Amino acid sequence: MFKRTNGCAELTDKDIGREVSLSGWVDTWRDHGGVMFIDLRDRGGVTQIVFNPDRDKKLHAESRKLRAEYVISVKGVVEARPKDTENLKLKTGRIEVAAKELEVLNTSIASPFEISDEVKISEEVKLAYRFLDLRRPVMQRNMRIRHDTTKAARNFLDQKGFLEVETPILTKSTPEGARDYLVPSRLNPGKFYALPQSPQLFKQILMISGCEKYFQIAKCFRDEDLRADRQPEFTQLDMEMSFVDQDDIFAVTEELMKYVFKKVKGLDIKTPFTRLSYKEAMSRFGTDKPDARFGMEISEVKDIFKGSGFKTFDTIVEKGGSIFGINAKGLAKISRKEIDDLTAFAVECGAKGLAYFKFTEKGAESPITKFFDKAKLDLLAKTLNCRKGDLALLIADSDIKKAQEAMGILRLRVAKIANVKKEDGFKFLWITNFPLFKYNDEEKRWESEHHPFTACRDEDIKYLDREPGKARAVAYDLVVNGIEIGSGSIRIHKKDIQEKVFKVIGISKEEADRRFAFLLKALAYGAPPHGGVAFGLDRWLTLFTGSESIRDVIAFPKTQKALCPLTDAPSNVDEKQLKELNLKLRK
Ligand code: AMO
Ligand code: AMP
Repeated sequence: MFKRTNGCAELTDKDIGREVSLSGWVDTWRDHGGVMFIDLRDRGGVTQIVFNPDRDKKLHAESRKLRAEYVISVKGVVEARPKDTENLKLKTGRIEVAAKELEVLNTSIASPFEISDEVKISEEVKLAYRFLDLRRPVMQRNMRIRHDTTKAARNFLDQKGFLEVETPILTKSTPEGARDYLVPSRLNPGKFYALPQSPQLFKQILMISGCEKYFQIAKCFRDEDLRADRQPEFTQLDMEMSFVDQDDIFAVTEELMKYVFKKVKGLDIKTPFTRLSYKEAMSRFGTDKPDARFGMEISEVKDIFKGSGFKTFDTIVEKGGSIFGINAKGLAKISRKEIDDLTAFAVECGAKGLAYFKFTEKGAESPITKFFDKAKLDLLAKTLNCRKGDLALLIADSDIKKAQEAMGILRLRVAKIANVKKEDGFKFLWITNFPLFKYNDEEKRWESEHHPFTACRDEDIKYLDREPGKARAVAYDLVVNGIEIGSGSIRIHKKDIQEKVFKVIGISKEEADRRFAFLLKALAYGAPPHGGVAFGLDRWLTLFTGSESIRDVIAFPKTQKALCPLTDAPSNVDEKQLKELNLKLRK
């Protein structure tokens, strides 16, 4: 093997005349009768290598045996490409290397797919051949951006006095709302470790230990149903600080984002980020993770329809419900069938129904127009800012949150159909003032909106005993372009309040002692006020790289079914292993 003098993305016309050595993979080969062209690829890019029979017959004959993905070393001289064959899209596109020596370091059997960015293959095959998939330039770029991002974050947090501390993987359950992955303990028969859903309790313990500023690039494990932006095993950029309030955490996060976006993407992002209360986010966007890059905001239109005699709406409003509307701009032209599809979609999203008004030459058109006088319809048009050509969509429900949420999802669908123009770039939002608890209708009990260690606003502590639904949390999410990329809170640092919160969510004293004795114990020994935030690094990178799937920014991800097609995990284990663990599988 010739020692490399350069990488495959480096040589330019400044190198013309130099003798160089390159190593890499045969990306493409073109056998143009006379001359053989090879694009030689390494992780940086490609360089064109030329084997000319007029210069060296034997070498040329050897080169004709090369095939895609062979690994070779080449020695040769950098030459200018003939003018009409330059490729100005490539950094190396003005030169080529005229080969003088060739060494084949390894051959390759035929790849099941082409190593290129546009490849269209199933996720299953891509992941089973991840070693080939990762050779694709876009994946090499994504790994590089991931590296740059964590490196920049580390640098920044180091400068700010944060300590990077590793916390255990074999541990006890940390409730973040998902199922735990469990690991049986051989030395303690019948007992199990849980893999951490997050380092939440350890980072709080670190604050009680006097660490003051902690961060970690932490693996988290959650056994939950997977979606496009979820992995069973994912990474958080996790932080915690002592003696801080919400504003301190916002300030350091904004500075961190500014630093990393500049370092990695060369982008200047605007700080401070817009803040939106949970309540406002729900009423304007129907979600706690709004995509605010476009308008089409939701309006409450209940008052317009008051006393109209349209039974469906009247009944809902009488029951304490409401009516919400959006203006699907320019969509009055859509067909009956498309309206039916939208209605079915709204119902799938939890709506009880969908009413519509097409604003056309003839005024407001809808099967239910007859129930409303012109003044009401004019007011509706005015409220939703509907003009001729627009379509008003309304959802009424006795459950206000349900109506808002359905409207929120419909808003995104309609924006897609109407091809609404979205603002360029990254739109950051802090969502604040979350409720501390939400009611679980099925189990008839309160549960934490975030996690049970989240602090209550001082002025709302009075609600904990009797009206927990009114208590607001000092919790916040960071949302970018409609994606929740981070979440955090100020924590409870007083033992009595922590016990009270456990009680509200139905964790008895015995259960609290069994599951969280260590935390309650630590809280009694001078716990400082503290708080923090965790960013979903994989989601953040999905945005950063413009990837379609979270799997494109993780070197070895799992499928929707939590399988790893590369290693075939999870897999069966030997009877002997089970026995050692004191486990027996049910037939
Ligand atoms: P939370 O559970 O909101 O908070 O998680 C923080 C962030 O992690 C990302 N995330 C995920 N990314 C990929 N796959 C998943 N399955 C997944 N689940 C969550 C999201 C989310 O915003 N301990 C608290 C943080 C704190 O309070 O400091 C926590 O884990 O981007
Ligand atoms: P119905 O009274 O159920 O026959 O519905 C009459 C019209 O009102 C139809 O266009 C329905 O789509 C619409 N509608 C019914 N329920 C709702 C609802 N909950 N929200 C909005 N529109 C509704």
